[in-house]
Amino acid sequence: MANSNILGPARSRVDGPLKVTGYAKYAVEFEIPKCAYAWPVESNIAKGKITAIDIKAAQTSPGVLAVLTHQNASKMADAKGLFEEFAEAHGEDMSQGIRNEQRAPLADDEIHYAGQYVALVVAQTIEQARHAASLVRVSYAPELPILTMEDASKAKKPKKKQDETIQLRKGNVEPALANQNIIRLHETYSTPTETHNPIETSGTIAAWEGDDKLTVWDSTQFVKGVQSILARSYGLKIENVRVICPFVGGAFGCKGALWPHVLLATMAARATRVPVKFHLPRKAMFTGTGHRTPTSQTISLAATSNGKLQAIKHVTGTLTSPVGEFVEVCGARSTGVMYASETIRVEETVYPVNVATPTFMRAPGECPGVYALECALDELSYLLQMDPVELRLMNHAANHPIRDVPFSAKHLKEAYQLGAEKFGWSKRNPQTGQMRDGNLLVGWGMATATYPAHKMSAAAKAILHVDGRATVQCATHDLGTGAYTAFTQISSEQLGVPFEQVTFELGKSDYPFGPVAGGSNSTGTVGTAIHEVAQLLHRALAELAVKDARSPLHGSRPNDIAMVAPGRIALRKNPVTSDSFTDILQRAGRDSITVESELKDPEENEKLAFQSWGAHFCEVKIDSLLPRVQVTRVVSVMNCGRIVNAKTARSQIIGGVVMGIGMALTEETAYDPKTGLPAIANLADYHVPTNADVPPIEVYFVGEPDYAFNPIGARGMGEIGITGIAAAVANAVYHATGKRVRDLPITPDKLI
Ligand code: MOS
Repeated sequence: MANSNILGPARSRVDGPLKVTGYAKYAVEFEIPKCAYAWPVESNIAKGKITAIDIKAAQTSPGVLAVLTHQNASKMADAKGLFEEFAEAHGEDMSQGIRNEQRAPLADDEIHYAGQYVALVVAQTIEQARHAASLVRVSYAPELPILTMEDASKAKKPKKKQDETIQLRKGNVEPALANQNIIRLHETYSTPTETHNPIETSGTIAAWEGDDKLTVWDSTQFVKGVQSILARSYGLKIENVRVICPFVGGAFGCKGALWPHVLLATMAARATRVPVKFHLPRKAMFTGTGHRTPTSQTISLAATSNGKLQAIKHVTGTLTSPVGEFVEVCGARSTGVMYASETIRVEETVYPVNVATPTFMRAPGECPGVYALECALDELSYLLQMDPVELRLMNHAANHPIRDVPFSAKHLKEAYQLGAEKFGWSKRNPQTGQMRDGNLLVGWGMATATYPAHKMSAAAKAILHVDGRATVQCATHDLGTGAYTAFTQISSEQLGVPFEQVTFELGKSDYPFGPVAGGSNSTGTVGTAIHEVAQLLHRALAELAVKDARSPLHGSRPNDIAMVAPGRIALRKNPVTSDSFTDILQRAGRDSITVESELKDPEENEKLAFQSWGAHFCEVKIDSLLPRVQVTRVVSVMNCGRIVNAKTARSQIIGGVVMGIGMALTEETAYDPKTGLPAIANLADYHVPTNADVPPIEVYFVGEPDYAFNPIGARGMGEIGITGIAAAVANAVYHATGKRVRDLPITPDKLI
């Protein structure tokens, strides 16, 4: 770990003791009196209609309270209309909740994908519910489903995603790509369906009080979003819907949108008049909460013989479902920002198929996009006979290549340099298949990492107690990332209250607005809200002090007063004239003082571009007789602005790298071509990396705090770690073997 300038203290998690002792309560662990249990019945066809549902046996099975189907379920106020109306009015305004699957569950007899919920059984125990679900008989009139990009009949080319243009064009790429006198490359890279698989599967407990008050305990990345959608779905006052989620056992994007199970749990609780818990079995995580779409990406590059890029073209095809509009934007914030080139073209095409709706998965878009581009750059380096790091330096973009404004606090060159040095890159033999460790082929590969710096809106409440303790609240989330700890640190520094005396509270819709914990935005966004509320707190203390004849600040103007040291406010121009937080409260006879910041749109700065950067260096070893790829060393250097907590940030990068190793070598959700159901729907068949697959991972940080981006100086880091790592592994495999695998995962069969 380097660079104390950007590196905050390596604090251990404030929620660590709760987690290791089992006292941390996850959403479905709350004990709600009289709670019943739900178990789903899922469609085993991918397209068609339900012709009949026989629920008699299930209904009379012991303990059963209800069997919901499209025939008896109460239609939600919105079933279709409200969501569509809302989408029309707000576009993709994510502040009001996210539904990547637009259809209300049990809306009608239509089947759009295999695994779609067709009934929900509610019983007194989970065993009774599960047994009764097995007794439900569903008859279908199946139609031929469309399951793949190749078979898709429709294609959409969305212009924008969340107000950002995603089809990019800078100049005309075609002349350079047609020029036979320069070096050109044209290759297609593909990635399979990947499924998030957090250890805690999704789940919801819904409890109604009468017909107009609803409390849900939901494993979510967005308590305020769930609150907003549920209020709209049932026509409830927003304050009559409470969403509680103090801990999340991993998410990676699959808990960012609201999925049908949340609506089903609330429908079931309303129908049975008892609280209902619907905790998804692992299998349902493969169809019920999204996945990363497969991608097919064609990259075309043209470069001069000294390696200057003349054209970059990135054409991507991805899938969505018939009942969702998700777009995995592979090129816009990767190929569109990464390298200086006279001409750039990015195209995104989405094909609707009869597969469950895809969603955000760690670095949605950038992760597969950077994989394709960074493999292509590596291929180009061999065509040019140029070192891969050098090729990247040759095309380094100090300015945003399309907007032509400078990047703020970009230190990618240092990341390459430090990474190369720590890894020992200069000892690399540039020829493929030349490096050995005994009988094993050794390969060294590298790739750039990048992820945009996203900014959203949040508000916070701060309560300062007369004994010096402070509580700060925001309806934000800790997905296991270390957010509790980072926000406690930021609160401590911004408020001027010792770390040990700050309690940061999150995970409740009662608190001031926090956005979805996605897009690596939380640290910066919520950090900014904490910064603002701290200013308000100091202002409120100043106002008390100036009115108090016993205060050294008596009679001064609050505008002239600011925090000068932890626990003290003073005259800006004469900090010796100061007063302490607790003295001010004590003399005013106050137990505490509470302030709350306002929710407002984030400040935009059009003169700069904000993006995080990094470089991965990776070693693989491969037995040429049984070519299983073993990643043996990874060095990752990241440039993400200020790092609030050196320990949890390092863990975030390590986690991203581990997930990237899975993407490179093992992860794939395969579908049965007959039924369209995932053929892989458990953790035994879905191969995430285990300890034996993960080598020591060295993480370093470079750069400076990015105060142009926000007052905390942090650009966030939950996602960047996974970008580029699959390319670094694939490039190392090529270096070891001379065999280029362009279709992930790189399983042994592809190397034989
Ligand atoms: Mo993240 S994939 O934006 O939850």
